[in-house]
This record gives sequence, structure tokens and C-alpha cells, in this order.
Amino acid sequence: MSERSKKLFVKTFGCQMNVYDSERMSEALAAEGYSSTAEIADADLIVVNTCHIREKAAEKVYSELGRITQLKTQRAATGRQTVVAVAGCVAQAEGAEIVARAPQVDLVVGPQSYHRLPDLVRRAATGEQVVDTEFPEEDKFANLPERTVKPQTTDSPAGPAAAFLTVQESCDKFCTFCVVPYTRGMEFSRPIAQIEAEACKLVARGVRELTLLGQNVNAFHGEGPDGRSWSLARLLDRLAGVDGLERLRYTTSHPRDMSDDLIAAHRDNPKLMPYLHLPFQAGSDRILAGMNRKHTAADYLRLVERIRAARPDIALSTDIIVGFPGETEDEFEATLDLVRAVGFAQAYSFKYSARPGTPAASLGSEVPAAVASERLERLQGLLGEQQASFNAECVGKVFPVLFEKPGRRQGQLVGRSPYLQPVHAMAASSFLGRILPVVISSAGPHSLAGDVLAA
Ligand code: SAH
Ligand code: SF4
Ligand code: F3S
Repeated sequence: MSERSKKLFVKTFGCQMNVYDSERMSEALAAEGYSSTAEIADADLIVVNTCHIREKAAEKVYSELGRITQLKTQRAATGRQTVVAVAGCVAQAEGAEIVARAPQVDLVVGPQSYHRLPDLVRRAATGEQVVDTEFPEEDKFANLPERTVKPQTTDSPAGPAAAFLTVQESCDKFCTFCVVPYTRGMEFSRPIAQIEAEACKLVARGVRELTLLGQNVNAFHGEGPDGRSWSLARLLDRLAGVDGLERLRYTTSHPRDMSDDLIAAHRDNPKLMPYLHLPFQAGSDRILAGMNRKHTAADYLRLVERIRAARPDIALSTDIIVGFPGETEDEFEATLDLVRAVGFAQAYSFKYSARPGTPAASLGSEVPAAVASERLERLQGLLGEQQASFNAECVGKVFPVLFEKPGRRQGQLVGRSPYLQPVHAMAASSFLGRILPVVISSAGPHSLAGDVLAA
């Protein structure tokens, strides 16, 4: 009797680090005979990789688990077993609570235990309910199987041209609203050699652009080949030497960790793209202090000036929270002022939501939901205008575009500009994975369109 290969479905919520983790989990499970399916109903193993950053994120997970429970019952009626696993930051934060609230869940696994996944899944498949939210001693990355992303060939250009590579995890900044320091364990940087080896592996398979990831990536301090601790700028410099790797990015950064050498890298490292995501969260110094951000609005402005002096065309992005406990109308206006003073190419903005266990959750003096919503709307109006005008200014310019995937229209490809904007152009599929000059002909609120110049 030939055994049907087992099917895996992974649903990913949250940040890019979860996207990266989901890839690594899929690769680890592929070694156990699980092949990925896009059809959740066909899956013998469902992994929900969760995010705990805001209230809505966790609620989404529980409603997803509700749907999965129904599916599991239906499959059981036809004699098929389904193992349901919850991974990620909700898994870490809630642990056994999850199986109490969603009893159909077989396995709960925290972000630092993914290398144990094959073993944990085997146990869960025998009917044991497994919860592993330890912070293990051993290095997860050193114990995960090597990267196996699909190779890119000229006749099958399906491998990814851009990839994520986690180099740093967790955070010890302890912003008072944030769960990350509690869900990801100790702040940690991977050794340079390990990162370089992974980068080379990815590049050999067609990757041309790498985004180095970390919850606080510019705090990177990995061990170098000389046994000393290396900064992110040194890591970027090292990776710029990898043949075939054309572009480098990194995210997310804390303003306090924008060191001189990292700012200089934006001037000196030819592969480092002119784009920087640098969250400031709020424009009022009183609110910033309440958030434990360790910087003022003036600090942020000065920093932006220094970064722009190093790289005048840099596109800036940020994260902003409105309605932090006690935020007054004037304090919110200070956020708008800071946005106006900087000018962002793009940004993410959120209504504050209290996260259990964080210091801000016990502050009281909550901003009424309607007030926070109205502030968010005003802020997003301003950010939308800035993004649209940044995009509009690109019309007529020629950008090198890395083509990453087919577009929605026949014959169209989508790539990224150096400033991370999606760029649509009519181009042969043989251009996938290549960087080509594109003259920008039109701009929308979130993307650009253009024509490929003779290659
Ligand atoms: N390491 C990153 C990000 C973390 S989460 C950083 O420091 O930027 C991404 C964003 O979610 C944060 O920047 C913040 O703007 C938002 N966020 C985090 N906790 C939140 C909360 N409790 N309520 C609302 N937004 C929050
Ligand atoms: Fe969270 Fe970012 Fe603050 Fe760290 S720096 S505590 S990840 S918001
Ligand atoms: Fe969410 Fe965890 Fe990332 S809480 S934003 S998935 S680090």
C-alpha cells in the first residue's frame, strides 16, 4: 500500500518574523514528509502561527481556531485525523490557556521551540495534548534544518527573488504597551557565520534581495568570526560581499539604536536600499515617556536629519500609536506635527490596545474608543496624503526594479523599487528575479506603474 504524503497548511498572522518562522517550520516539517497544501480542508496538520501584538490579533486567532475545529470534526467523520497546532506569540503568551479555550488544539508551541516541532507533532499525532512554551537552552537556528527554498531556474522561475532572514530576536526595550519582550524570550543575535551561510544558501537558489529581520534589528550584536560582537552595519557590510546578492534591507529599528556606523552604512554600503522603517509611536514627549520609548520628538527629528544627511533620498516609514492612556487632543496634535515635520513615504498606524501583563495595561485613564478612532482617521488621512505625494513625485523617474512575481493582469510582472514601492510593468516572465530599469509612468496611493527600458 502506498502511503499518501501528509499535507500541511500554515496560516500566518503578525509580523515578517512570523512569515520567516512559518517558512522555517514548513521546511522542518517537509523533512518529516509533510508537503504544503493551499487547501486547508486537505491538511492533516494545520499550524496557526499567531500574533499577540494587539487585541484584535488574538481575537482573529480564536475565530480561526473556531473554524478549524469545525473542519476537524468534519474530517473526523470521514475517518481522517487532523492535528491542529498553535505557534507564535499567542502560543507563548497563553500556553495551556489555548487548549482550555479551544480543546481541539493538539499542540501549542512557542517561537523558541520550532526546532522541536517534528518531535512535538509526532507526539501530538498519537493523541497527546502537547504544550511547549519553554525558552530552551539550545539554539533554535542551529537545530533547524538548512534552508530549502525552491531553486530558481531559467525555465521555471518560481523561486523567490526576495527573502527574509531573521538575524535578531526579541527586544529588551520594554515599551510599556508592548508584549514582544514577553513573547519572544531573551533578546538574542545570531552569529555572523551562521547568517552568512544562510544568506549564501538563499542566493544560490535565486534570491537577489534579503531583508534582515529582528524585533529590534538595529540592536544586533552577533558574534563575529573574530569572536567579537559585530554591529548590524558590519553584518550588512559582510553580506554586501556575497556575490549575486544585489539588495539589502533591514527591519524593524529603534531610534535609540541607530548608531553612527549604521547611519554611515546608508551612505557607504552600495547594496543597502534607501528605505528605513523607524517607528516613533507618538509626538508628545510626555506620552513618549509614558511609553518608555527613551527618545523625545526632538531626538527623532535630529536623527532623521542625520540619516538624510547620509542618504538624502532615503524613504522613511514608521509606526504610530494613537490613544495611548491619557493622550490629550494637544498631545495627539504633537503626533500630527511630527508627521508633518518628517514626511513619510509610508507608515503603519494603530489604535492603542491594552495588552494583559504590560505596564501600560494598568495605567487607567483610557482614551474613549470613539475619540481614538477619530484621531486614527485624521492621522491616516495625513499619512495617506504624504504617501500619495511621495509616489506621485516618482512619475517620470527611472528606477531599478527587482521583479518578484506575476501581476494580476496577463503579461504583467510586479517588482519593488529601491524605496519598497510595488511597481507594475508589462514584462516577460523571464524577467522574474532580475533587476531592470523601469520608467515610472503613473502612481497610485500604494503602488507605481511603468515601462521596462531596453534590458
Ligand atoms: N519591534 C517593532 C515592533 C513591534 S510591533 C518596533 O519596535 O517597532 C509593531 C507595532 O505595533 C509597534 O511599532 C506599535 O506601533 C504597534 N503596537 C505594539 N503594541 C501595541 C499595542 N498594545 N497597541 C497598539 N499598537 C501596538
Ligand atoms: Fe516592542 Fe518595539 Fe518597543 Fe521592543 S522597541 S518593546 S518590540 S515596540
Ligand atoms: Fe506579533 Fe509576535 Fe510579531 S506579537 S508582531 S508575531 S513578534
